[in-house]
Amino acid sequence: MLKIGLVGCGTIATLIIKAIINRKINPIVGAVYDKNIHKAEKLGKLVNAQVCNSIDELVSKDIDIVVECASVRAVDEVATKSLKNKKDIIVMSVGAFANKELYLKLYNLAKKHNKKIYIPSGAIAGIDAIKSASLGKIYEVILETIKPVYGLRESLEKEGIDITSLSEPMTIFEGSALEAIEKFPQNINVAIVLSLASGFPIKVKIIVDPSISSNRHRVIVKGSTGSISTIVDNNPCKDNPKTSALAAYSVIRIIKDLSEPIIIGT
Ligand SMILES: NC(=O)c1ccc[n+]([C@@H]2O[C@H](COP(=O)([O-])OP(=O)(O)OC[C@H]3O[C@@H](n4cnc5c(N)ncnc54)[C@H](O)[C@@H]3O)[C@@H](O)[C@H]2O)c1
Repeated sequence: MLKIGLVGCGTIATLIIKAIINRKINPIVGAVYDKNIHKAEKLGKLVNAQVCNSIDELVSKDIDIVVECASVRAVDEVATKSLKNKKDIIVMSVGAFANKELYLKLYNLAKKHNKKIYIPSGAIAGIDAIKSASLGKIYEVILETIKPVYGLRESLEKEGIDITSLSEPMTIFEGSALEAIEKFPQNINVAIVLSLASGFPIKVKIIVDPSISSNRHRVIVKGSTGSISTIVDNNPCKDNPKTSALAAYSVIRIIKDLSEPIIIGT
């Protein structure tokens, strides 16, 4: 049976534990760690997991795979220590890979130790098809993110854009993934997943729409295999509106697939 260790015991980790309790997935939770020990204790208790006091302690436990669902800042330490201790890792805070040096360091470390780094699809659809298409020739990749006003208020105020009287959709950004991440860091995960899956410099468009209430991601890919376009309207997680339910389910699905005899999709 698959043994997992959880780093970060917030919204996503709680949904993973709920999926275990509800028997949607069946791994053993060998260990949990959160920089806030109370959160680790609360979650660990639900599945009788060992509560660790550090990442070093967690990676030394008898587990097969570490699930990072903590923060972009945690990724370097968690992934490096996991791989060096011969554990696979699922990285949820994929925005960390905007740092190319870190990406290459972890890529080489995983190769050296014959371990895997799993990156969930997150809140967008079509990553399976885009990965296949990238083996042909890609001509264009566009990520169009349409957000409700409340999701962008802070970033827009920083940019000096007044949205108080907005009555119809307005494009507030068009540019590269890296520029988008700099100006709208809450978009980081989808932009990085799409960049990594396509291996192509993506164009990002961010639109604020006063008529919608959840995040919509539209992905358009044109290439030698044809064109792919997907739209996902994401419902947020109850406990954390910044995290889409689909993104949390994508990591739960990876955990499920790791124990399945048949894997569907790319
Ligand atoms: N890949 C995607 O599409 C996607 C989608 C949503 C969220 N995320 C990312 O997943 C991560 C978790 O999301 P969430 O909604 O569960 O967040 P959350 O804020 O609900 O929970 C994060 C937990 O991690 C803990 N934590 C933070 N830094 C830590 C560290 N250095 N060491 C140990 N614990 C630490 C916090 O105390 C908190 O309990 C975030 O980085 C978020 O950006 C990725």
